[in-house]
Amino acid sequence: MIRGLLLGVIWMIYYCICPSFQQETSFVYNRFDQAEADRTLHLDGSARIVPRSGALQLTNATDRQIGHAFFKRPIEFEPSESVSFSTHFVCALLPGGEKSGHGVAFVVSHSLDFIGAEATRYFGIFNQNGSISTRVLAVELDISLASELKDISENHVGIDVNSAESIISANASYFSDKDGKKKDIKLLSGDPIQVWVDYEGTTLNISLAPLKNQKPSRPLLSSKSINLTSILQSRRMFVGFSGATGSINAYQYILGWSFSKSMASLQSIDISKLPKVPRSSNNKMSTNLVLDALLGLIGFLVLGLLVGAYLYRRNLYAEVREEWEKEFGPLRYSYKSLYKATKGFSRNEFLGKGGFGEVFKGTLSRSREMREVAVKRVSHNGEEGMKQFVAEIVCMGSLKHRSLVPLLGYCRRKKELLLVSEYMPNGSLDHFLFNHESSSLPWWRRLAILKDIASALSYLHTEADQVVIHRDIKAANVMLDAEYNGRLGDFGMSRLYDRGADPTTTAAVGTVGYMAPELTTMGASTGTDVYAFGVFLLEVTCGRRPVEPGFSAAKRFLIKWVSECWRRTSLVDARDPRLIEFSSQEVEKVLKLGLLCANLAPDARPSMEQVVQYLNGSVDLPVFWPNSPGIGVMAFSSSPLVLPSLSLTSSSANSSMFITHSVLYGSGR
Ligand SMILES: *[C@@H]1O[C@H](CO)[C@@H](O)[C@H](O)[C@H]1NC(C)=O
Ligand SMILES: *[C@@H]1O[C@H](CO)[C@@H](O)[C@H](O)[C@H]1NC(C)=O
Ligand SMILES: *[C@@H]1O[C@H](CO)[C@@H](O)[C@H](O)[C@H]1NC(C)=O
Ligand SMILES: *[C@@H]1O[C@H](CO)[C@@H](O)[C@H](O)[C@H]1NC(C)=O
Ligand SMILES: *[C@@H]1O[C@H](CO)[C@@H](O)[C@H](O)[C@H]1NC(C)=O
Repeated sequence: MIRGLLLGVIWMIYYCICPSFQQETSFVYNRFDQAEADRTLHLDGSARIVPRSGALQLTNATDRQIGHAFFKRPIEFEPSESVSFSTHFVCALLPGGEKSGHGVAFVVSHSLDFIGAEATRYFGIFNQNGSISTRVLAVELDISLASELKDISENHVGIDVNSAESIISANASYFSDKDGKKKDIKLLSGDPIQVWVDYEGTTLNISLAPLKNQKPSRPLLSSKSINLTSILQSRRMFVGFSGATGSINAYQYILGWSFSKSMASLQSIDISKLPKVPRSSNNKMSTNLVLDALLGLIGFLVLGLLVGAYLYRRNLYAEVREEWEKEFGPLRYSYKSLYKATKGFSRNEFLGKGGFGEVFKGTLSRSREMREVAVKRVSHNGEEGMKQFVAEIVCMGSLKHRSLVPLLGYCRRKKELLLVSEYMPNGSLDHFLFNHESSSLPWWRRLAILKDIASALSYLHTEADQVVIHRDIKAANVMLDAEYNGRLGDFGMSRLYDRGADPTTTAAVGTVGYMAPELTTMGASTGTDVYAFGVFLLEVTCGRRPVEPGFSAAKRFLIKWVSECWRRTSLVDARDPRLIEFSSQEVEKVLKLGLLCANLAPDARPSMEQVVQYLNGSVDLPVFWPNSPGIGVMAFSSSPLVLPSLSLTSSSANSSMFITHSVLYGSGR
């Protein structure tokens, strides 16, 4: 009786306690560390724990690798137990190159002996003959398309039983409970992917989801005809992972893993404790990305700068060229060359302000020959007449006389005309005449200059193909070359006339004091040039400007004063007091010639040809007196805009002819 009771108690105890004897195997890895891995995991092939990362690397991006990572202890089921399991893991697959392969499998295997297994599409657990050395159930995450294994895509999940050829497979996706529909998932994204594999009875369910998601309510794959006991031919199994690469490769990681014999006892993975997708590969990628972005940015900036510089340069060096200019081709300079020659029109190269524009010194290098030039910048509004003006100016380039400042060429811009002429190292004559700080020129040099200019002007009036009227003869427009030879320059005011053409159509321009009285009514002519030359003769000899507002009334007007001196028989007194050595005869002759040229009556003035002869002494001056008609008479008062009241000294001339109504132009220069 007692024995029976005792037996009964033992029986009861056996049956009550028995479940606790069952090997309740459950484990979770929220990350992997080397020490724990050494103790609990079996790693072989390329599998390793990534130092300091906590990730389990199955393959690095090396060809034909196999990496195994299994829980060391086998999972065993008592005969009374039903064979079942539940697992949840997080993996990440990163591209190893432009094309990547092959994939990772969760493996339930009879043994850890995978001899004969191959890499590539066989995941390191099978070969073409199946699983040679063990019996295997695998869940493959396949990132390559092996057509002989009837793979459906290069992004699929499949259930393999003793063969790499899946019994069932599906493109990687998950059921989103939130959206109520299936969503694609890219295995090779490098992002952590959660995988659940549940087996109970004969049903094997597989679910996928991105890391942030819950386990989907509907599995991706579900097979109801899996008899694990039959597959493994055992109630003992090893669980773990296998990864493989081939001629294409990938980084394949397990970041966390939880396993249990039953779904109920499955411990959840603490997502927050999971390692980051390892940096070794990711770093490269992200630094590459950062580098790429940086390079891209730098490239973009450089491109922007280049485009900016190009536009700036294009704008900086922009020119205007038109069809009609073709004939002036050889005379055309590029703006760029002039810009460079004048160092960007630097103030250091500034020579002075001339008619209409500023003059800069420049150094042009044409065919390795350095040449010093003067570049005059003339502003304009691009008006109609500009075209004709330019054509005329450029035609001046054909004028050749040793006493003309040669015009070498030009350049046209939107609002600018640039005239290039030879550089005159000694500047303009007025500087020597009126600037009392600079050394004055001796008489012989002044006379030579006067002869130079006379011959130049004579050439313009008679010898050139067309009559050229200079229109602005004055000391300021006479340049001195290195040998102090006089050179007539500044054709900015000039107009060309065909012989016989009516000159009155052109507006009167000039400089106060040098303008012939008839200029405003009759227009420019060779006669007005002769008048201006007469004033020029006087100013060079007397070393003073034609009108000096600061002087006493008697001395104010040069022409009047010189003739006054002559009347007082002291003509030589009118000379520049700085002249020491001179011939009184020559000075007197030049002064008389000046008065003759500046005669109020155009007809009474000599031609420039005659002037040259008088100066050379080959012809004597005609006889005339200070009281001769038109001599020493001013056509204007000190105030340029007030109509002068004139009294002619001679009644013999047709006095009304000499009365001018001159409104004087060009005084703004
Ligand atoms: C990949 O791992 C192998 C050892 O398994 C090593 O020899 C190789 O250098 C590693 N390659 C890279 C790219 O990390
Ligand atoms: C597959 O089996 C065939 C014969 O059954 C054998 O010749 C071949 O070598 C095997 N292949 C592998 C990779 O084991
Ligand atoms: C799987 O995806 C591939 C393309 O990625 C597609 O061609 C194929 O039809 C898909 N298969 C299924 C079963 O959805
Ligand atoms: C497998 O999924 C189905 C729903 O599709 C569910 O009814 C079944 O309980 C699941 N089985 C396991 C073992 O998770
Ligand atoms: C599974 O297979 C084993 C042996 O192969 C068999 O004893 C068992 O009855 C099978 N289980 C089911 C549910 O079919």
